[in-house]
Amino acid sequence: MNPKQDRRIKIVGSGYYVPDKVLTNADLEKMVDTSDEWITTRSGIKERRIAAPEQASSDLALEAAKRALDDAGMTKDDIDLIIVCTATPDTAFPSTACWVQKGLGTDHIPALDIGAACSGFLYGLIVSESLILSGTNKRILLIATESLSKITDWEDRTTAVLFGDGAAAAVLEESDDDSGILSHYWKADGNLAEVLLQPGGGSRMPCSYAVVDEKMPFLRMRGNEVFKHAIKRMGEAAAEAIAKAGLTHEDVDWLIPHQANIRIITATGKRLHIPDEKVFVNIHKYGNTSCVTTPTALHEMKETGMLKQGDIIVLVAFGAGFTWAAITYRW
Ligand code: COA
Repeated sequence: MNPKQDRRIKIVGSGYYVPDKVLTNADLEKMVDTSDEWITTRSGIKERRIAAPEQASSDLALEAAKRALDDAGMTKDDIDLIIVCTATPDTAFPSTACWVQKGLGTDHIPALDIGAACSGFLYGLIVSESLILSGTNKRILLIATESLSKITDWEDRTTAVLFGDGAAAAVLEESDDDSGILSHYWKADGNLAEVLLQPGGGSRMPCSYAVVDEKMPFLRMRGNEVFKHAIKRMGEAAAEAIAKAGLTHEDVDWLIPHQANIRIITATGKRLHIPDEKVFVNIHKYGNTSCVTTPTALHEMKETGMLKQGDIIVLVAFGAGFTWAAITYRW
């Protein structure tokens, strides 16, 4: 949105949920050939949460959604659209949003999923902004949810140590003050789709005994390549969003980068000339929860009083696709 325009959307309630089970680096040392030292220095992760066998992504989403509605002082009847961002849907169809709708027990409001992997929540905010400012919807429940543990190959040390499960949600409506989204930037490059993907189980490689034997329904990643692109693209996206808001890096109070790897987070801050103390980090607690990391960070910061009214926040993410996006937000 052009900062000169006076209409914007804002978050009026938020919440997150993580499963109870904690998987530490020490636990992983017993499962694959790795060490706490390697995981900590290469990724910044100390522990992550793992969904229970009976918990699907919509179950995590539902908990986060209820907390966000409570936080907004609203009920399910106050929302007119559910958007779920996820790379680990309960089912290919119906959408995870429909499972959440069932769980919430809403009227027949529309419900849809957005597939943008780790950039999902930012893509969701951008789509919601258009829907609300065009008058199509008044109040949107935007949820990010992942149960990545369900598509992780627990024998592959290169991926098993990185990911975690969780969900976070936000209630969005048109802002009645100065706070809210000031600008956004979003891009994708499908030429790099094969660098990070879940190869099997879709229409390209339908499930069969052979596909399962080859572990194709598990997440596959060329970590080094992701790493390089993530640093470049997150820096680019954040810089573009800051400029589109008519601001400079000196105006930024908080950079909230997707929590994929502490080295990616630190490098992104450096590229943007934003000092470490203004760069939010919680990757040690949850690992990479894909699109869930940015809304979880926002809620944690709000809950702990880190965010002050008027703060300029830059949210930035990068993920499979590749997709990348950034948002400048006045709190
Ligand atoms: N424990 C111990 N050693 C491990 C290991 C583990 N869990 N995983 C990989 N290694 C080994 C490798 O086998 C390799 O050994 P070799 O040199 O004998 O071949 C060595 O460590 C270095 O591997 P490399 O992949 O070069 O490490 P890296 O510094 O690039 O770090 C990642 C690997 C995955 C942590 C890093 O590339 C990364 O974070 N990439 C981005 C991933 C990401 O964020 N994905 C989600 C998208 S948002």
